[in-house]
Amino acid sequence: MHTPSGMPTLARRLRTPRTARRPRRAATLPRLLLTDARQVLRSYRGETPRRFLLPMYTAATFADAAERIARLRRGAGQDVVLAYSVKTSPAAELLGLARDRGMWAEAIAQTEVLHALALGFPSEHIILNGPGKWWPSPSKVPAYGAVFCDSLAELRASSRAVANGDLRTHVFGLRLRPATVASRFGIALHDPKAFSEVVRLLRRLPRRQGLGLHFHIASSMVGVRTWQALAVNFLGAAGVLSESLHDRPLTLSFGGGWHPDDWPVFLRTGFPELVAQCRRRLPMVRRIVLEPGKALSQRAMCLVVRVLEVRRSRWGTELIVDGSVAELPDIRSHTHRVVSCDASGHVTVWGAGRDRVLGRLCMEYDILSEAVQAPRGIRAGHLLAYLDAGAYDASMAYSFGRGGVPVSAHLGMLRRSR
Ligand SMILES: Cc1ncc(COP(=O)(O)O)c(C=O)c1O
Repeated sequence: MHTPSGMPTLARRLRTPRTARRPRRAATLPRLLLTDARQVLRSYRGETPRRFLLPMYTAATFADAAERIARLRRGAGQDVVLAYSVKTSPAAELLGLARDRGMWAEAIAQTEVLHALALGFPSEHIILNGPGKWWPSPSKVPAYGAVFCDSLAELRASSRAVANGDLRTHVFGLRLRPATVASRFGIALHDPKAFSEVVRLLRRLPRRQGLGLHFHIASSMVGVRTWQALAVNFLGAAGVLSESLHDRPLTLSFGGGWHPDDWPVFLRTGFPELVAQCRRRLPMVRRIVLEPGKALSQRAMCLVVRVLEVRRSRWGTELIVDGSVAELPDIRSHTHRVVSCDASGHVTVWGAGRDRVLGRLCMEYDILSEAVQAPRGIRAGHLLAYLDAGAYDASMAYSFGRGGVPVSAHLGMLRRSR
């Protein structure tokens, strides 16, 4: 559990019965997701495990988000922007979809800035966040869209750089640390000393410099309701700070963390409510930014694995597959739906049951699925597609258990440092 309460994660897990007595009805999938997965499973003949982009479903997800935001922008008094979180899934195909749909890019390192620039994002559409945003060394860019400092030390140094023209950014500001939820990030504006220093540093900047505030706590961790309450607190803090800054124009940015199930509902209801609150209470807010990551990318990919062995017993069936937690490192934090394909090309969407899928690694915790229903005719050699395998499953995948590569890399470093 990553959160103080862990309740949202726990609730999601409890939704899947661990020991269902009887097989449930087969699960269903969105039409485009099934069409994409079927296409991959029926056509792929190569080595496994292998990750695939699910193109039609993904394009529709990006299009839907962009269209909803465009509609909201037309009705709102402020500009509203989506900034795709590069670190969550830096695949060029996804960044390309984001760019073509008018989204900005949100980066946490200079390597990500260069990646976004190379893929055609203008620097004015790049937002810089996080504690290591200048790593490994600052790139030369005309001007960023926004830079949000993560600490007072960073705010001191970067505000000097902004004032003397070394750092150009349309919006400059800070990430606020929430007062009621533990977070290692941002500046605790609720501390009076920090508040006065922030006001002093920001007031010193020329009046033409755009200012901004950033808030990020993952709603997938704290739950949608808590997130909404924290976001309202954030608006309150923005109002108080803004008064001390004589109501200068502000940009507000909301970091990502929306589960793909929660995201469309948030865009339909929670977000328009926040925008309306901003309009009523914070007329100095000119632009609102949302930074979705996994909401757009988690379902964009599947991992195809092959069945190595089938172990049947009266307790259920266990499949050993050639995929593992190394290719699905985020397997524990959200549900991964499974689709399989037999030798004749028949594709089955798995429901709940008594079977398990075990990874190839010699590690007790390398369990990919529990309480699932594998098709009766499943055999060694059949392919399974693990859905919901984009986002952190893709970007945090590691090479454990494949042999060789990381060991030789470490030896090289040891020899050099002697
Ligand atoms: C500042 C910021 N923006 C956006 C994101 C994207 O979040 P997610 O991929 O969980 O949607 C993160 C993730 O930690 C973040 O820290």
